[in-house]
Amino acid sequence: MKAIVVTDQAAGTAGMTLTDRPEPLAAINDVIVQIHASGFVPTEMEWPSTWTDRAGRDRTPSIPGHELAGVVTALGYGTTGLSVGQRVFGLADWHRDGTLAEYVAIEARNLAPLPGDVDFTVGASLPISGLTAWQGLFQHGRLQAGQTVLAHGAAGAVGTMVTQLAREAGAYVIGTGRAADREKAIDFGAHEFVDLENDALKDVGGVDLVFDVIGGDIQKRSAALIRAGGTLVSVVGAIEARPDDGLAVDFVVEADRGELNEIVRRVRDGRLRTNIDHVASLDDAVDALNPTARRRGKTVIRVRP
Ligand SMILES: NC(=O)c1ccc[n+]([C@@H]2O[C@H](COP(=O)([O-])OP(=O)(O)OC[C@H]3O[C@@H](n4cnc5c(N)ncnc54)[C@H](OP(=O)(O)O)[C@@H]3O)[C@@H](O)[C@H]2O)c1
Repeated sequence: MKAIVVTDQAAGTAGMTLTDRPEPLAAINDVIVQIHASGFVPTEMEWPSTWTDRAGRDRTPSIPGHELAGVVTALGYGTTGLSVGQRVFGLADWHRDGTLAEYVAIEARNLAPLPGDVDFTVGASLPISGLTAWQGLFQHGRLQAGQTVLAHGAAGAVGTMVTQLAREAGAYVIGTGRAADREKAIDFGAHEFVDLENDALKDVGGVDLVFDVIGGDIQKRSAALIRAGGTLVSVVGAIEARPDDGLAVDFVVEADRGELNEIVRRVRDGRLRTNIDHVASLDDAVDALNPTARRRGKTVIRVRP
């Protein structure tokens, strides 16, 4: 099959090459999915799981990409809950070969059915950003209606999902980002916007939940804004700053079929919009994943036309 592989961590996305790889085999509880569209997060090149298996052994050349939408073509031993021919979308294991390929072997529990009226490109754009937002807001952040959320990077892939889901849940959403992101953040539902390069973050006042996708100094300054009993959730590594009287949680997103169902239900009924900036073919994927201009949203690789 055709696949994108990486062998050199130092080369980053520029080291990606399009090559031929053996088709994957289905292990216990796996399915094989013929991939129609694949999503990729640029920071994957920095994750140890891109380069090693769970025992820490080198697994290069590895296939990156962890989001997919496609069609089930085979079932592994003992697999239940999905069937051959079914449209699916979901989140592939961090330590296994990923989705920038024509086929992937993936545990069935990492997938959910993709309704027939949701395009594969849209399906592949949802798993990481949608699940991250859902889990950060509702599971780790325990968001309640009437609370205030500071949504960092609100025009980005995760941030647009955080903004929409928080607003739907009845929160007041303060989005942040660069000056050029203001319009997009407001368009995705932020009640107000803070330009992190020009506005003073401390003027925001108290918030109940900070959703951090940036880290560093921005995280530290945000922690100081959290009201008593509030929460800082971060998805960019170990927490560096804690609220004086509240919780701080860093987490890595997990696959969850029920949550994927909730997310795609909202896409179908128009409550949730995805944030796709660019779509490219697998043949053009290496160039598309090494953009020369700033991307504002996700790049999705359309593996099958
Ligand atoms: N732990 C997890 O499970 C998990 C899951 C998903 C994502 N993540 C991580 O979360 C981060 C965000 O992911 P994403 O897909 O949402 O990325 P994205 O689409 O690039 O969105 C991030 C947004 O934040 C903005 N931003 C970053 N630094 C900023 C700064 N200093 N000032 C103002 N704006 C700033 C970015 O603008 P620029 O593009 O101009 O910098 C961009 O608009 C990534 O590091 C990703 O690896 C982690």
